[in-house]
Amino acid sequence: MRTLAVVPEMLRHVTATRYAVPLREGGSLPGIVEADDLGMYVTKMRGAGQGVRVLAAEVLVAGLAAEVGVPVPELVTVELSSEIARWEADEEVQDLLTASVGLNLGMDYLPGAFGYDGSRPADRDLAAAILWLDAFTANVDRTWANPNLLRWHERVWAIDHGAALYFHHAWARKAPDAERFVRAPYDTSQHVLADVAAPVEPVHDRALAALDEEAIAALVERVPDEWLPPGEQLKSAESVRGAYRDHLAQRLRHPEHWLPGGAR
Ligand SMILES: Nc1ncnc2c1ncn2[C@@H]1O[C@H](COP(=O)(O)OP(=O)(O)O)[C@@H](O)[C@H]1O
Ligand SMILES: [Mg+2]
Repeated sequence: MRTLAVVPEMLRHVTATRYAVPLREGGSLPGIVEADDLGMYVTKMRGAGQGVRVLAAEVLVAGLAAEVGVPVPELVTVELSSEIARWEADEEVQDLLTASVGLNLGMDYLPGAFGYDGSRPADRDLAAAILWLDAFTANVDRTWANPNLLRWHERVWAIDHGAALYFHHAWARKAPDAERFVRAPYDTSQHVLADVAAPVEPVHDRALAALDEEAIAALVERVPDEWLPPGEQLKSAESVRGAYRDHLAQRLRHPEHWLPGGAR
């Protein structure tokens, strides 16, 4: 049975053949990597300071985005070998690559994309979908200082969702607390699309239809085990998956706490 309408059930897997260039504007020092399928991928390294949970957030939020109609570049898993780290001349990058041998997250590189600056505002309905996505996943990384939106081929694309679903950082030590996440309000005052977005209620209705229990479970399945570290309470990747399913399903059912506009 197919439960996901847009994204594939598994991330495609590629192997890095060359580290091309670091993207220094980003805080996590992502780099552009060429892979064995000749694609170029903006790659977030497992060895970056934020840890692998941010990679899980990227996969989960991009999946949710695509299923509710927000364009996101394709995500892949990128295998990085120690060879590539060894030949890197930049010391800072070499350290990061050495710490990232194994499975990293790649995002299809959109050549020539412009950073979103509002000079051509996003379409109202798409803006509403992105605002809904950020409120649902508690993503604070969509401000004018840091829009994390690209304009490419006449469309607006959403990137960089590592800051969303921040609750999982507590899972290293604490038991999950879905109730707390369900009730967390979302402040739209700094959101880059707050002024242009159409009402978000129709997006929420669409999301309820698209994101039933099976779909949420399937989106959680897309995250590789390597990015679901166990903690003191959640002792296996499978229990971490269960916590994500639970948090997302419960928050979806209680928009009265977080849906912008507060109409519910
Ligand atoms: N898929 C992509 N295609 C083209 N440029 C990208 C892509 N992803 C990121 N970038 C560029 O790299 C920058 C940093 O990437 P981002 O995902 O925001 O990382 P960080 O977590 O470091 O902020 C972005 O602001 C954007 O300019
Ligand atoms: Mg960013």
